[in-house]
Amino acid sequence: AATVTEYSPERDFVLKMRKAGKNVVIFYGSQTGTAEDFATRLAKDIQSPSVRPLVLDPEAYDWQCLASLGDDELAIFVLATAGEGEPTDNMEAWFNALVSDRESPDDSDLPEFRQPDNKPEFDEDSPLQGVSYAVFGLGNNTYEQFNHHSRLVDRRLLALGANRVGERGEGDDDADIEEDFARWKEATLPLIRQFLGSATPLESADESSAPEPTWVVNELEAKVVWAKGEFYEEPVSAFDSRHPFAAPVTTAIELTPSADRHLLHVEVDLAGSGMRYESGDHIGVYPTNADEEVDLLLSVLGLLDKADKPISVSATDPFAAQQSLFPVETTTYRAAFRHYMDITTPIPRAQIKSLMLPYARSEAARSFLRQLADDKDAHAATVSAGCLSLARLIGAVREAECLAIASSSAASDGGAEVPFTLPVEVAFELCPRLQARLYSISSSGRVNPERPSITSVVLQYDAKTEDSAKAKLGARRCGVATNYLLGVMRYLRGDRAMPLSSEESETNSTLRPGCLLTDSTELPGAADASSVQPTQDSKAHMLQSFTLQPLSGTIAAGKRGLTMPVFIRKSLFRLPSDHSTPIIMIGPGTGLAPMRGFIQERAHIAREHPDQPMGTTLLFFGARTEEHDYMYREELEALFGDIQQVAPESQIITAFSRDQPQKIYVQNRLVQHAELVYKTLLCGQERLGGAPRAHIYVCGDAKNMARDVTKALVTLIAEREGVSEEAVSKWVSEMRRLSRYQEDVWS
Ligand code: 2AM
Repeated sequence: AATVTEYSPERDFVLKMRKAGKNVVIFYGSQTGTAEDFATRLAKDIQSPSVRPLVLDPEAYDWQCLASLGDDELAIFVLATAGEGEPTDNMEAWFNALVSDRESPDDSDLPEFRQPDNKPEFDEDSPLQGVSYAVFGLGNNTYEQFNHHSRLVDRRLLALGANRVGERGEGDDDADIEEDFARWKEATLPLIRQFLGSATPLESADESSAPEPTWVVNELEAKVVWAKGEFYEEPVSAFDSRHPFAAPVTTAIELTPSADRHLLHVEVDLAGSGMRYESGDHIGVYPTNADEEVDLLLSVLGLLDKADKPISVSATDPFAAQQSLFPVETTTYRAAFRHYMDITTPIPRAQIKSLMLPYARSEAARSFLRQLADDKDAHAATVSAGCLSLARLIGAVREAECLAIASSSAASDGGAEVPFTLPVEVAFELCPRLQARLYSISSSGRVNPERPSITSVVLQYDAKTEDSAKAKLGARRCGVATNYLLGVMRYLRGDRAMPLSSEESETNSTLRPGCLLTDSTELPGAADASSVQPTQDSKAHMLQSFTLQPLSGTIAAGKRGLTMPVFIRKSLFRLPSDHSTPIIMIGPGTGLAPMRGFIQERAHIAREHPDQPMGTTLLFFGARTEEHDYMYREELEALFGDIQQVAPESQIITAFSRDQPQKIYVQNRLVQHAELVYKTLLCGQERLGGAPRAHIYVCGDAKNMARDVTKALVTLIAEREGVSEEAVSKWVSEMRRLSRYQEDVWS
């Protein structure tokens, strides 16, 4: 059983709660920040005079204190499931202590809780008797172990005698996690309020009363040179996800130039950081928002004039666990939105209701926002499908106001004189924190220990909008991080003076919304109200809404050239330690990334030790066309040449899906090459029987590809072994457990 660690008052969250006058603690298990964001929002939603929440990171606190929670206190867990069903890094210690060192979470081997002072009748068989909690899990249904982490924690807490308030909630990121969260809150918050003795069971939502601000912005007189400093201002002893290393970008090129998409190869230099990586690890990159997006938001918030004003942003609650919004103490408005806030993600309904609606002064703005907040379908069609960022959403509210001014009915709507906007504190609260993106490293840690590389397709997609008028809000959207990499590539290539610009801004007029005024028929909304002619007033309103100053932008180029904040995240995706073990790699598209690292490594070993045995090395690579999408072709062929010297059956098998009328995918090739695949798996044995020595690796799209590949493998093995597919599926599960069938997949 997990042992009781020495008591430390700093790690006693119950003490902390009581000192701060709180009666609810919300713990988040968060890897990419979503669960943390949900926890913070939840705190805001349940807050009332009798419900006083504190949001904490479990990593900084002792799980053993759970037992001393009183019966008028509550713990809420907001837990994401990472990767293949694991807890998030910051929940690992709690999880291991409470759950995972046991065969079954219900068994009787109890973790040792401390005897709490406030519970004289502490029952060691039910140490959490009298402790109440609620739980919401976040997961993605395309992964096998959906919400595994929150389910296990929930089961374990119940088994330890704790009392759950309400049902366990489950959010599915593959469907609509915001709606799942909203539904869970709707069902659970009244129970929580009741549990804590709140007199008012449900908040009477007054849409015009602005909530207590969470943050306070202080404008400073001091001069801040943010450009060199953001993120990596202070020297740290070890770099990690919270303290990324500013790595010089040594290479950024386009791999297979094509008109309709960009495939990038970016290399950074880790020299001097003390960081190392192994083939199969991930690299985390903190992207920067495109200047146009930042300027658009600054503009609608009325902050362009003082964009470079130094500020500090601190919590209004002196007991809040997070006292400063940013990792640096002072920053500027521009730097804050550029580096720390996710300004392009669509705003959820609950946030529109609680944080935007109260600031609507015109009837037009109110009814527009009210509809988005109350009507799930309207929100889905306009905000989600339209990928409306905060700035664009504010723009859309202003268009609604414009339309109202243009039509005579709004003459009396006095509130519309000033276009809709928000206080900057509210914008800081509405935007989640900008998160690092993880990429599978596409180089070998053995061959290039200081130069990890990223292989990525630049994400661009068209926002689906229900009508062409809405489309004017700008249909083309770009992924933040890949677009940032594209900017870096262009900057290094020297074809752009201003590197961090969004691709879309070149073609998208809404990012220079002043253009809308050049032709009155372009007035947004005109299409659905064709009889409405824009008036002088509405033009003036638009002008106020969308005047942009000339775009500006600088980059942290500095003495060391262009740098990128990065860190290494260890993964379990590993080559077998014995090189005589055969491997089968299946990596279509950018799923090739970690395989390239593996191949570099095996080729290196083949060259260095030509006398040592090496297992057959198979690569199944899929892409759209051979001509345009066969990335790293020459390099891969040369590396396989080296490998074949010692493992002659090694080969690349390609599936070019669009080079013939019917689609051919990697899984079709697996079936076509069933004999070779089976023989490689058998590795000299007669039958598969127990665990064979070959390892299988799959990387790429989780939703369809990874599943189809498993299916194809199961079928081909079942046929050759003469056993049922169920039996082979069990065998695959066992292979997964032994880390012989490994996936690095994303959705
Ligand atoms: P497609 O886009 O022509 O359909 C890399 O993206 C390659 O993976 C492309 O050739 C793509 O084909 C292919 N691909 C798409 N869906 C797939 C699936 N379910 N299984 C395997 N490959 C797939």
